[in-house]
Amino acid sequence: MEFSVTKNPNPVPDLEREALIANPTFGTHFTDHQVVVVWEEGKGWHSAEVLPYGPIMMDPSSSVLHYGQEIFEGIKAYRHQDGSIWTFRPTANAARLQRSAQRMALPEVPTEVFVDSLKQLIAVDGAWVPKPENEKTLYFRPFEIAAENFLGVRAAKRAEYRVIASPVGPYFTGGLKPVSIWIALDSARAGKHGTGEAKTGGNYAASLLAQAEGNAEGCSQVMFLDAETGSYIEELGGMNLFFVFKDGSVLTPSLDGTILRGITRDSVIAL
Ligand SMILES: Cc1ncc(COP(=O)(O)O)c(C=O)c1O
Repeated sequence: MEFSVTKNPNPVPDLEREALIANPTFGTHFTDHQVVVVWEEGKGWHSAEVLPYGPIMMDPSSSVLHYGQEIFEGIKAYRHQDGSIWTFRPTANAARLQRSAQRMALPEVPTEVFVDSLKQLIAVDGAWVPKPENEKTLYFRPFEIAAENFLGVRAAKRAEYRVIASPVGPYFTGGLKPVSIWIALDSARAGKHGTGEAKTGGNYAASLLAQAEGNAEGCSQVMFLDAETGSYIEELGGMNLFFVFKDGSVLTPSLDGTILRGITRDSVIAL
């Protein structure tokens, strides 16, 4: 798929960008460009563009605002010591976005389009990838939304795939230190045959109340148990979970449709 490129006429000045990427916080500043690809029923994916970063013009009836048909991914670009820029297993993120799309009745972004969209953004915004120190990376947020102007409960006939990127430091403000975890006893993130395995906004919305409770109790993450019995550990609000035992063995909950198929999880198991 050919991407047309419209350069941002007002990019962040070099000095300002350098200051931002030297000291990034998580998800607060964004690069100069974004990728947009449109899908329409009967036409498929078309109009692949790299555009200046900016707000989305959206009709108030746009279906994503009402029925939550939305999925996303998270993947980082790492700068190596020789200056080169790398991602980690991007085709695994492409495959997960496709599974999420199936579950949420959205069109699947082809793997080549997904990988190319990251390359296209790096081609114009590569200078935003921080130096390889203190966990600094450029975080891509690929996402897909239902974008049909229509009120009615059915899958949208128009969708948009977009990618934005943000220079980030460590996810937890304390860096790579142990974090305390709040166990949610009276709220569930996902149920049997629900959408727990899809990376969709609704799962995160469902986790926020328990996350806020945990924060108020001084914990940085919340752990969810299975919705049916409340006795099996599933995952945290924003990450999978491994237990490491004294004998060196590790244990992680199995995937049963309610847990996100983490690529880190998969990689740790493979290793
Ligand atoms: C709910 C949840 N589980 C697990 C993960 C870990 O996924 P990955 O290892 O692919 O980053 C994430 C990542 O954002 C997540 O939001």
